[in-house]
Amino acid sequence: MSADFLVYGSYGFTGSLAVEQALSRGLSPMLAGRRAEPVERQATEFDCPHRVFSLEHPTVIADQLDDVDVLLNCAGPFSSTAEPLVSACLATGTDYIDVTGEYEVIDRIADLDRDAEQAGVTLLPGVGFDVVPSDCLAASIAGELPEATTLELAIDGGTTISQGTAKALVEGLGSPGAIRQDGRIEHVPVASKRRQIDFGDGPKPTMTIPWGTS
Ligand SMILES: NC(=O)c1ccc[n+]([C@@H]2O[C@H](COP(=O)([O-])OP(=O)(O)OC[C@H]3O[C@@H](n4cnc5c(N)ncnc54)[C@H](OP(=O)(O)O)[C@@H]3O)[C@@H](O)[C@H]2O)c1
Repeated sequence: MSADFLVYGSYGFTGSLAVEQALSRGLSPMLAGRRAEPVERQATEFDCPHRVFSLEHPTVIADQLDDVDVLLNCAGPFSSTAEPLVSACLATGTDYIDVTGEYEVIDRIADLDRDAEQAGVTLLPGVGFDVVPSDCLAASIAGELPEATTLELAIDGGTTISQGTAKALVEGLGSPGAIRQDGRIEHVPVASKRRQIDFGDGPKPTMTIPWGTS
């Protein structure tokens, strides 16, 4: 059975949402993950092709991606999964996208820009809530306001988080804050800036968090 793209981590919370959205738009995802039972259950439920492979062995991953045009990685924390999948995508000429918000992961993938160019592939982390949508919003506002010289983006919400986001947050506990200054990531104290912002319901206390941007 042919597929438009492969979703790795397809049976996790975010992967399942991506699969359901893809199907509702008439796309044909290939489902994949490291445990056979949940992949097979999901593949049976949605009548999708599937693959089961873990990320320990580069040749196994490359074999599984050899005929795949686009990989959507929803398996996080991405500190463990991005590197082996990106390496395999470079080897197999597969475009790579993921939903990470981990800025260190985004930076490591950005360092592979030349390799991606040589391999003729796109490496685009952060297509979930973080990064790509907020960059698109920033680009759109910059287009509307060409005279503007600075932009401040604030996010309200995020009081409930998914299991995978909680794991990524726990991984980051104890880490300092971070900002990008003159193109480089610099460490700063946690919540180094605080202020009140009115999102429409009156002023709310807010603080800075590391947020992946390009
Ligand atoms: N940017 C955004 O908008 C956004 C939104 C929500 C979540 N996220 C991120 O997406 C990631 C997933 O979140 P979630 O809530 O969907 O988590 P989840 O429900 O726990 O699902 C995680 C998936 O990743 C797989 N996985 C984890 N580590 C793996 C590894 N080392 N090798 C292979 N597979 C692995 C899990 O497989 P097993 O069950 O077999 O362990 C599972 O399929 C998190 O990093 C989270 O921060 C991003």
